[in-house]
Amino acid sequence: MYVCICNAVTDQQIRIAVAAGARTIDDVGAALGVGAGCGCCRECAQEIIAGVRPRRTPAPGSLEGLAHAV
Ligand code: FES
Repeated sequence: MYVCICNAVTDQQIRIAVAAGARTIDDVGAALGVGAGCGCCRECAQEIIAGVRPRRTPAPGSLEGLAHAV
């Protein structure tokens, strides 16, 4: 699906940019032009980035996340 109409950028292209190392909307904007026009796509693009980005891993020995393991 097209996320950024101004620059014809799809959700798949955003996912590929994140897989290649983009971490923020500014990173994706620099790579693909997302948000460089009217800006209407920024919120949607950020949701896609957040959904793709790996979650923070608890430090070894940390009790963080233990509730999910029990
Ligand atoms: S829709 Fe992305 S900048 Fe306009």
